[in-house]
Amino acid sequence: MKKFEVMTDIYFGENALDRLSELDCKRLFIFADPFVVQSNLIRYLTRPLDRAGIDFEVYTDIVADPTTEKVIAGIAAVMKYYPDCIVAVGGGSAMDLAKAVRKIANQIDSGFMPRLIAVPTTSGTGSEVTSFSVITDTETHSKIPLVSPDMTPDEAILDEVLVKSVPASVTADTGMDVLTHAIEAYVSTNNNEFSGALAEKSVEICGQFLFRSYSDNNDSHARRKMHIASCLAGLAFNSASLGLNHGMAHQLGAEFHIPHGRANAMLLPIVIEYNCNVTKYSRSRKDYEPYVRKYCNIARSLGLGGMNEVTTIHSLANYMRFMAEEMNIPLHLRDILSISQEEYEARIPEMAEAALKDGCTATNPRVPTLSDVIELYKRLW
Ligand SMILES: NC(=O)c1ccc[n+]([C@@H]2O[C@H](COP(=O)([O-])OP(=O)(O)OC[C@H]3O[C@@H](n4cnc5c(N)ncnc54)[C@H](O)[C@@H]3O)[C@@H](O)[C@H]2O)c1
Ligand SMILES: [Zn+2]
Repeated sequence: MKKFEVMTDIYFGENALDRLSELDCKRLFIFADPFVVQSNLIRYLTRPLDRAGIDFEVYTDIVADPTTEKVIAGIAAVMKYYPDCIVAVGGGSAMDLAKAVRKIANQIDSGFMPRLIAVPTTSGTGSEVTSFSVITDTETHSKIPLVSPDMTPDEAILDEVLVKSVPASVTADTGMDVLTHAIEAYVSTNNNEFSGALAEKSVEICGQFLFRSYSDNNDSHARRKMHIASCLAGLAFNSASLGLNHGMAHQLGAEFHIPHGRANAMLLPIVIEYNCNVTKYSRSRKDYEPYVRKYCNIARSLGLGGMNEVTTIHSLANYMRFMAEEMNIPLHLRDILSISQEEYEARIPEMAEAALKDGCTATNPRVPTLSDVIELYKRLW
C-alpha cells in the first residue's frame, strides 16, 4: 500500500503574505536569513503581524548550509522565547535550520511543538513542503539529509515579492536545483503517478520560465512561475525522494562549499548520461530500462526530442550543459576550485563513499558502484 500526502497548506498568489495577519497565535518567532533583514524585505512579514497585534522576535544567526552548531544555538534561542508559532523566511538554509530546530527542541521538551510556517525567498529547494532538512556536520565535513514527517512545515507561503531581489547567479543555481529535484523525483525508484504529475509540471515550467527569470529580475510573471515550480518539485520529491545527483552534490557542498544548486547543475548532465548508460559510442537499441523512457518524457516536456532514445538522452544532457553555460554556471571544478587536480582526486574516495551512503542515492534508478561514483567525480574536474 502506498500513500500520497500533502501535509502543508500552501498559500500563493498576489498578497499571499497577508495570510500572516490571519494566524491564530500570540507569540511568533521568526528565523530570518540575514539578507531578509538587511534588505528590509522583513517588512512584508512584520506589517501583517503588526496589523494582527501578534508579538514576534526576529532571529538571524543563520548561515548558508546550516551547521550542527547553528542548530544548537537556534534551539536555545527559540526555547527561551517559547513561541506558539515559528516562521522561517529565507532560502533552504533558513527553512532547514528552523525545521531541525523545532524537531530537536520537541525531543527535549515534548510540550513544545509550535506551528511552523515556511516562507521561501529563493525558488529552489522546495523545503517549504518537504520533510527533509539538510544539516552540515562540521566535524565530519558531511551534509546529512535528515528526514522525518514531523519536520514538514504546517504552512507554506509563496509570495513572489520576496524573490525579486534574488541575484542572477542565485536564480541560476536555485533554478537548476528545481530541475534536478523534478527530474530525480520523476525517475526515482520510489516514483508514483502523483509525484510524476507534479514533477512533469515543474519541468515544463522550468523550461518556459527559468531563463526568463534569470535574465530579467523584474519579470514578475516568470518569478511567480518559478516559485511555484520549486514548490511542485518539492512536493514531488517529498513523495518519491531523489537520486545519485543529490547524493553526490551534498558531498561537494560539504567539502568545497559549492552552492547546493550549482553542485547539482554541474553534475546533472553527467548523471543523466550515467543513469541512462549513454555515451558517445552508444547505438540505438531495442530494449531500454523503463526509466530511460522516463528521461525521454522529461526531454519532451522541455520541447526536446530525437529519433531514438540515444539521441533524445544526448539532447537532454546537452540542454542541461547549455542552460548552465547560458546562466554562467561553470561545468568543471577546475574553473572554481583553488586546489590542484591531484589534491581534488585525493579527496574523491571519501566523497564517493559518503555519496553512496547518502539517503538520496538509495532511490537512484541505476544502482551505482563505488568505482562508478569515483569515475563520475573525476569527470567533473
Ligand atoms: N530541505 C530540503 O528539502 C532541501 C532541498 C534542497 C536543498 N536543501 C538545502 O538548502 C540549502 C540551499 O538553499 P538555497 O539554495 O535556497 O540557498 P540559501 O538559503 O543558502 O541562500 C543562498 C544565498 O541567497 C541569499 N538569498 C536568499 N534569499 C534571497 C533574496 N530574496 N534576495 C537576495 N538574496 C537572497 C542568501 O542570503 C544566501 O546568501 C542547502 O543547504 C541545501 O542542502 C534543502
Ligand atoms: Zn536540491
